[in-house]
Amino acid sequence: MVGRLACGWLAVALLGGCGGGETEAFPPVDELPSILDPPPVLESASADDWSARRAEIAELLDHYVYGGTPESVPATGTEAAPILDVEGGRYVEVTVRYGPAAAPPIVLGLFLPEGVSRSPVMLALNKCGNHSLTTDPRIPESTAWAAESCADESGETRGARASLFPVARILERGYALATFHESDVDPDDASDRDRSDGIHPHLPVEGDAPWGTLAAWAYGVSRAVDYLESSSLVDGARIATVGHSRRGKVALLAAARDPRIAMAIPHQSGTGGVTLSRSDGGESVMAITLFFPHWFTPGFADFAGEEARLPLDQHFLVAMVAPRPLLAVDGVDDFWADPPGARRSIELADEVWELLGSEGAVELGDGTFDLTADLAWTTRPGEHSMVASDWEIFLDFADAHF
Ligand code: GCU
Repeated sequence: MVGRLACGWLAVALLGGCGGGETEAFPPVDELPSILDPPPVLESASADDWSARRAEIAELLDHYVYGGTPESVPATGTEAAPILDVEGGRYVEVTVRYGPAAAPPIVLGLFLPEGVSRSPVMLALNKCGNHSLTTDPRIPESTAWAAESCADESGETRGARASLFPVARILERGYALATFHESDVDPDDASDRDRSDGIHPHLPVEGDAPWGTLAAWAYGVSRAVDYLESSSLVDGARIATVGHSRRGKVALLAAARDPRIAMAIPHQSGTGGVTLSRSDGGESVMAITLFFPHWFTPGFADFAGEEARLPLDQHFLVAMVAPRPLLAVDGVDDFWADPPGARRSIELADEVWELLGSEGAVELGDGTFDLTADLAWTTRPGEHSMVASDWEIFLDFADAHF
């Protein structure tokens, strides 16, 4: 973790200028200026300057929000035999190993469409294990920790998340679905304040911004990409990350950090995802860091009630995906995930797509966005949930770009 700020917007706001080169260590919250409007994502109108600015943004997000990640440890994948026939295609489970030998592997479930070679891939975390996506008894039950809410009244978790993942329909539309149980990387345990479970003890992050669970999950997504990009079963150049809510935050974070991910579809990702921390609506930084402190680097909680002191906002994270396609989806009645704040974030990030030669977001006459453009935000009726019909929106967007 680099503890210094490059000369830029923040240095100017803090010091009134730079005087050349690097300036300040990342200041603590009480030394940061309070600025009500989200800071500008771009500091230069030249596309040549974007990669340096992008690197600076990545460091700001690591330091102040998510925590850093360890050096990349490329993963290896071992496919299980036999490949199973399932409705609409085939299923194979891949053991993805990375890091020290004792580190828990990722068990990547890969649903492959019938008759399509090297299909594009929708890559998504799941909450309860790969076996929770279908009622097929041949899919091995995850042995990793699962929340109590994964089980039905009889304690059964198989098929528990099937309504969120219309697997046969995804396959019918010609896409593979790659998914793994998030607990393979890090159990979603708010009491784990000292990062003692999951991948954390095996791959510690040195420095003053330890990684939280969202960063660990995103790191795991990249390890799945290590396997997918070299696999002959799918097209590693057409991987989209998809996720709902906390997993939508991860779909965005993983794509922001990993340029091999060709598309991001964060669904109702809310605070810590697409929506602005400075937004008046929805979940506050105080609420999210109170109930889910483990998701972030500990210092993010210092911005509770002090959002205006953040030297960034979530449109910085969105902008890191540019110029790759990104669709953010919200529910009209999903107050907590803050659809207006997400829309504003997309609008603020748009200038980076344009800088990089994309048309970016295209607002139509009725105030909605063109869902075939590279950057888009949309809502659908309803509240906070992921349902089968959401996938039609995701897959239509993917069809328009892949
Ligand atoms: C909570 C949390 C949100 C999160 C959501 C979810 O509501 O406050 O930030 O997105 O859980 O993951 O369903």
